[in-house]
Amino acid sequence: MNHPSPTPLKPDAWAPDSWQQRVALQQPVYEDAAELARATTQLAQLPPLVTSWEVRALKQALAEAQEGQRFLLQGGDCAESFVDCTSPIISNRLKVLLQMSLVLVHGLKKPVLRVGRFAGQYAKPRSTDTETRDGVTLPSFRGDVVNGPGFTAEARRADPQRLIQAHAHSALTMNFVRALIDGGFADLHHPEYWDLAWVEHAPLAAEYRRMVAGIGDSLRFMETLAGPIAGFTRVDFFTSHEALLLHYEQAMTRQVPRHQGWFNLSTQFPWIGMRTAALDGAHTEYFRGISNPIAVKVGPTAKSDDLLRLIDVLNPSDEPGRLTLIHRMGNAQIATALPTLLEAVKRAGRRVLWVADPMHGNTESTSNGYKTRRFDNIRGELDQAFDIHAAAGTRLGGVHLELTGEDVTECMGGARDLNEADLNRAYKSMVDPRLNYEQSLELAMLIVRKSGGMA
Ligand code: PEP
Ligand code: CO
Repeated sequence: MNHPSPTPLKPDAWAPDSWQQRVALQQPVYEDAAELARATTQLAQLPPLVTSWEVRALKQALAEAQEGQRFLLQGGDCAESFVDCTSPIISNRLKVLLQMSLVLVHGLKKPVLRVGRFAGQYAKPRSTDTETRDGVTLPSFRGDVVNGPGFTAEARRADPQRLIQAHAHSALTMNFVRALIDGGFADLHHPEYWDLAWVEHAPLAAEYRRMVAGIGDSLRFMETLAGPIAGFTRVDFFTSHEALLLHYEQAMTRQVPRHQGWFNLSTQFPWIGMRTAALDGAHTEYFRGISNPIAVKVGPTAKSDDLLRLIDVLNPSDEPGRLTLIHRMGNAQIATALPTLLEAVKRAGRRVLWVADPMHGNTESTSNGYKTRRFDNIRGELDQAFDIHAAAGTRLGGVHLELTGEDVTECMGGARDLNEADLNRAYKSMVDPRLNYEQSLELAMLIVRKSGGMA
C-alpha cells in the first residue's frame, strides 16, 4: 500500500515534535537513535503523571494569583536525584513547604498556591558540554534523566533508559506526596506533623510555633461555632519542573478525550529555563503548543522587545493564568534590570503572573570551591523585588525557591550565620545550593512583612 507523503508543515503548524525543526540547546547527544526511539515509544505508552483536569484547575488558580487573590509558593530542589527518592527526603521537603505556606496564609490572609519543584526535576542546563578532570574530558552531568554524576565514561553516557527511570521516580514521588496529602498529613489541625525531627532550639522555629498555636486556637473557636470546616483538612499541591529535555516532554505530551488541545501530562506546570528561552529556539516552539500553564525564567540581560515578542508567541490570546514570568536578576542587578521590563509589559497591557526567583542570580563560588549563595543577597533581592513592583504599579504574585528539608549548609548567612567553613559540614547538593529550613522560614516571614501582613 502507498503511504501518503507527509503534509509539509505550514510555518505556524505545531505538533509535539515540531521543536525538532529548531535549534534545541542543552540537549544530550544520544549515540544510538534507535535505542532512543525505543525508549521514547515506551515512555509515550506509560500512563501520565497528572491529568488535564488538574492542569486546568492550576491554570484557573494561577489566573486568580494574577488578580492578587492568591500567592504562589513554588519550591524544591535544584535537581532531584534518583537516590534521593526516599521517604524522609520527600516528606521533609513537603514539611518545609507546608510550614512556609502556613506562615504565608496566616500573614497574607489569602490562599496560597503550593507548587513543588519536584516529581520530574531531573534535567539540568549546564554552562559547558564537557567536564575535564586531570586531563580527562567527559560529557557534563545533565541530570539523572540523562546520565549519571560519576566521573566515568559509562556514567556520563546519555542513556535513553533513564527516560523511563525518571518517569518511574516521578511517579513514586507523586504517589507518596498525593497519599500523604489525601491521608491527612496536610491537615491544619495537626501542624505538628510537619515538625522536622532534627530542628532544635531554632529561634525562628519558636516564632513559628507561637504562630501555629494561635492558628490552632482560632480554628477550634471557629469549629465550635460552625462545625468542622472541610477546607482545613487538606490542601492542593501541584508539581512543576524545567521542561528541558524535549524528547522526554514530547513523549509525555498527550491528547485526552474530554479536553481539546495537547497537554504535557508529566507535570501540571512546566517552565522554560533562562538559557533556553530564545524566541526562535526549540523550547519556545514546544511550549507554544501545549495547553498547560507555563512559566519562563527571565534574567538580567533580557530586553523588553524580546520579552514582548516571547509573550506574543507563548500567549497570543492573553489567556488568564497561561503565562508566568519568573525574574531571576541577582541582588546587584534587579534594581536596574527589572523596572524597564515591568514597565514594558504593563504598557503593552499583557496579563502575566510575576514571580521572583531570588536564588539563581546570586550564585557564586567560594575560595574553597563551593558553589554557594549568600542569604543576605537572596533576602535582599526578594526585598527589592517587592519595592520595585510597588513602584511600577505591578504585583509580585509569588516566589520561586530552591530549598530542602535536610539539615544542609549550602547557602551562607541566615539565622545561624553560616560561613565558608560551615559549607564543609553538610554540603549535599549536586548542583545549586539550597535554602535550609530556617532560611526558608525566614524568607516566608519576609514575604509577609513586605506585603504589609504580620509575621
Ligand atoms: C534552575 O531553576 O535550576 C535554573 C537553572 O534556573 P535558570 O534557568 O533561571 O538559570
Ligand atoms: Co538551580
